[in-house]
Amino acid sequence: MAVNLLLGLQWGDEGKGKIVDVLTKDYDIIARFQGGPNAGHTLEFDGIKHVLHTIPSGIFHPNAINLVGNGVVIDPVIFKRELENLEKYNVDYKTKLLISRKAHLILPTHRILDAASEASKGKAKIGSTLKGIGPTYMDKTGRNGIRVGDLELNDWKERYRNLADKHEAMIDFYDAKIEYNLKELEDEFFAAVEMLKSLTFIDSEEYLYRAQKDGKKILAEGAQGSLLDIDFGTYPFVTSSNTTAAGACTGLGVAPNQIKEVFGIFKAYTTRVGSGPFPTELFDEVGETMGRVGHEFGATTGRRRRCGWLDLVALKYAVQVNGVTQLMMMKGDVLSGFKKLKVCTGYEYQGQTINHLPYNIEPENITPIYTEMKGWKEDLTKMTDSSQFPKELNDYIAFLEKELETPITIVSVGPDRKQTIHR
Ligand code: IMP
Repeated sequence: MAVNLLLGLQWGDEGKGKIVDVLTKDYDIIARFQGGPNAGHTLEFDGIKHVLHTIPSGIFHPNAINLVGNGVVIDPVIFKRELENLEKYNVDYKTKLLISRKAHLILPTHRILDAASEASKGKAKIGSTLKGIGPTYMDKTGRNGIRVGDLELNDWKERYRNLADKHEAMIDFYDAKIEYNLKELEDEFFAAVEMLKSLTFIDSEEYLYRAQKDGKKILAEGAQGSLLDIDFGTYPFVTSSNTTAAGACTGLGVAPNQIKEVFGIFKAYTTRVGSGPFPTELFDEVGETMGRVGHEFGATTGRRRRCGWLDLVALKYAVQVNGVTQLMMMKGDVLSGFKKLKVCTGYEYQGQTINHLPYNIEPENITPIYTEMKGWKEDLTKMTDSSQFPKELNDYIAFLEKELETPITIVSVGPDRKQTIHR
């Protein structure tokens, strides 16, 4: 009995979707455990690019069951769009997709509340994707939320009305002057709920327990990244769920001692969307080149991602918090052509050199300390085996493995499924 876990170690957008898609052939069940449509998981194969927001990244494989766990928040409107897109590719989602009754629903007013809250923050705004994530998790922990299982009860619309009315009063309180037509949004929402109801709702913790007993192989799929974790991330510039390993236990009902391998995904450099501290951020041509070559634009919002050198202090922290057993390095190809590469191995903090993530990592408190390495000029995108890697790339990998005390078992050299090298 074992569940393997896959999660992002930076500020999201590490390429989790691609790796889940690559690994799915070895699993019976892929289970998403937190987040919602703020995520954008990109998969590329047969020359087509697919972006998933709520649906697990194993959905394109013929046999795997894909489960949306209790820790996820679902916007029926976005979910419906995702399903319609799958229909275009003849994906049999009716049999392959299961939804936890305990997952919470994002209501139209949650999205408006998100926008109103952000608008009220002015310069201190989080840079939220405005998908209603924060307000929905607030209603969950505030014990007011509406769950998928409620849709099977007769009184759910009454409960919906009460909650939406309360939200409207809260929206007025913000006085953010947000224009919206609730009637239109609700028509769209209720139509989408009907489509959602055509899927199979389950008690997913029980389902996963039985599956483990039957020897099924389960992969838990995370969203966002460890530095966006509500507890361990760069608070308050974080998302509203536990993106770290513990989130898989609470977001699926899997016991901690059932988790075996923890796959940690990271980019060979660092990116971040939205506001908040980012010690190794580059404001020069190097950062601009990373963004251009790496196509660093958000899959959900289209926003330009901030880029910078790899921050090993932050990465080490994420490896520790998650208990990572295997690392997977993404976008190695984007670093081709840089004469010198820098890796942050420590911070200057209050007159001292430290190599852990302090409470306060605002730029005015921190100066990164870099180790410089020689870059490589070879194009990696056509490589199929690690024996083809240039010496400088091998040196880069060996340095990271030594610093992080964890093996790098996959190096990704492009967005396609095929551009994945196992070591
Ligand atoms: P929210 O979760 O949409 O409220 O966004 C909170 C913060 O997390 C913002 O800085 C977002 O840009 C960031 N964020 C949320 N989801 C993702 C993601 O999937 N990838 C990268 N950043 C994300």
